[in-house]
Amino acid sequence: MDRRGFVTTGMAAGLVGASGASSALANLLAQSPGWGPGKTLANGSIRLSSNENSLGLSPAARQAVIDAIPNANRYPGDFAPPLMDALTKFVGVKKENLILGAGSTEVLQMAVQAYQGPNVPLVTAEPTFEDVPRYQRPMSFNLVQVPLTSTYEHDLDRMRHAAEGAGRPAIVYFCNPNNPTGTITNCADIDAWVADAPDTTTFLMDEAYFEYANSPSYWSSLKWIESKPNVIVVRTFSKIFGMAGMRLGYGIAHPKTIERLREFVMQNNPNVLAAAAGVASLNDQGLMARSVAVNEASKKIVHDTCNELGLEYLPTNANFMMHRINGDLGTYIARMAEAGIRVGRQFPPMLEWSRLSFGLPEEQARWAETIMDFRRQGWV
Ligand SMILES: Cc1ncc(COP(=O)(O)O)c(C=O)c1O
Repeated sequence: MDRRGFVTTGMAAGLVGASGASSALANLLAQSPGWGPGKTLANGSIRLSSNENSLGLSPAARQAVIDAIPNANRYPGDFAPPLMDALTKFVGVKKENLILGAGSTEVLQMAVQAYQGPNVPLVTAEPTFEDVPRYQRPMSFNLVQVPLTSTYEHDLDRMRHAAEGAGRPAIVYFCNPNNPTGTITNCADIDAWVADAPDTTTFLMDEAYFEYANSPSYWSSLKWIESKPNVIVVRTFSKIFGMAGMRLGYGIAHPKTIERLREFVMQNNPNVLAAAAGVASLNDQGLMARSVAVNEASKKIVHDTCNELGLEYLPTNANFMMHRINGDLGTYIARMAEAGIRVGRQFPPMLEWSRLSFGLPEEQARWAETIMDFRRQGWV
């Protein structure tokens, strides 16, 4: 059965219907010409493993990339300024407040390199996004990982003690919404710490999933950047704009802080095609709404399925979610892979939970049918 046939049959069709994959959603999906069977991997597998955006590049961004190809023999110096112009308008800041990276991960790397030191601990949650500890590792500086609270928030009291207890400078990494849990930490509580912290505590605010969050207790840390040079906000084009393979992200901070980060930036960043796709994505008015609508539809399929199976799941404000699997995680991941579905890797210490990315409703329905089958086999 081909994959379009798949969604029209059986339970999968019911789930897509129940998800509200109405004609409105179908219209939204139709605006993304890459949608459909062509999005699978060469071996037919689908990727629900890396929190990507299955919609792919927007049609406008695709065209912009094609139009930019004749300039791919040039260094990108002339192509970054239009992106900076579009980004200043989009974020509502000045150019001096922005730095571009090959993905937001490059900005995270710049921040670690710029502010780490032998007597500067890096304080993170556990589990959280691994890149920041990874950038710190070769220098063997002091990494302090503080377990999330029982409600999967950053444990602010313990993190604060670890950062400021010894009266030294520190870097504090907040991944909010947090990857891999998808949960948020109350921003009023984070603000209270930022307002009260010494200048020597550098806050690295990773807002990779900012655009998906809709909780009333969640907001950006952007408001701090003028008054607090020790706050760095990091965002990406990889998620909401579907550009993970293009590698484009940005940091937002006080001009003084941006200057410091710039000492660690890779030269000639970003590349010509990424810059073109970035401008087109920012100018594509419907793109964010389209991504959010598809994400919500797929999230509903996952919620409905977990409810039906009685599998506990964490509240999410992102484009992925964690749910229990009632069994060995490695075996579950391998069985899903065998069924043609890549789900998230292992995130110690949460080894009873699977992280599942939200793809297209069609892809999510395939996951739903598969896990239902696993239940019939007694595997979940
Ligand atoms: C929390 C978080 N930050 C940053 C990144 C890196 O994204 P990119 O380098 O593609 O912008 C990711 C990727 O999954 C992430 O989950």
